[in-house]
Amino acid sequence: MTQDELKQAVARAAVDYIHPKLDSDSIVGVGTGSTANYFIDYLAEIKGSFDGTVASSEASAERLKSHGIPVYDLNAIDNMVVYVDGADETNPALELIKGGGAALTREKIVAAVADEFVCIADGSKWVDTLGAFPLPVEVIPMARSHVARELVKLGGDPVYREGVVTDNGNVILDVHNMAITNSKQMEKDINQIVGVVTNGLFAARAADVLLIGRESGVETVT
Ligand code: 5RP
Repeated sequence: MTQDELKQAVARAAVDYIHPKLDSDSIVGVGTGSTANYFIDYLAEIKGSFDGTVASSEASAERLKSHGIPVYDLNAIDNMVVYVDGADETNPALELIKGGGAALTREKIVAAVADEFVCIADGSKWVDTLGAFPLPVEVIPMARSHVARELVKLGGDPVYREGVVTDNGNVILDVHNMAITNSKQMEKDINQIVGVVTNGLFAARAADVLLIGRESGVETVT
């Protein structure tokens, strides 16, 4: 199977996984990226089974709306039964690196609100230790150089993602060569740097369930 077929398989599995949990009042949180896009397309097939969605990016909101699926402002909803999103890396503790699509801040906010976070990923995203994928950090533009110097002090090699502006009007630094042995502490340490909006480590709020696509089929990890 191609990587794309594995993404489609986990997206389909996610819809099957969440469907029995939904009723006419349910709000579904929806992530960002190519795997999340497949999820949106399959979610459209059951759009009568829930109230609506909250999107973690403008791009996902547009795709949801194109299927006729209602998209709410997060401030307008009281609870969210589930959030479904992809990842750039996951370790066996279901701690993640996210933000390859620059949507990490809104993704982290939506994940924080959801009762359950379901991560969907093809098998290439599975690692023992996080950090081979450069860690995205969203930064207030005027703080870019300051934050970069502080990230070097933490042992990383930050690279400015040129030409990218987040949905929040900020910039992204991708941190290479970071030894992430204590994900929770690293997440906190980076967030302490003045000028950082948030970083792409999802360790304090890891996924609750991982649906991972392998040649042998979709595996559920909890
Ligand atoms: C976007 C993300 C995505 O979930 C992550 O980049 C995975 O993307 P894809 O599903 O395209 O492989 O964090 O900010």
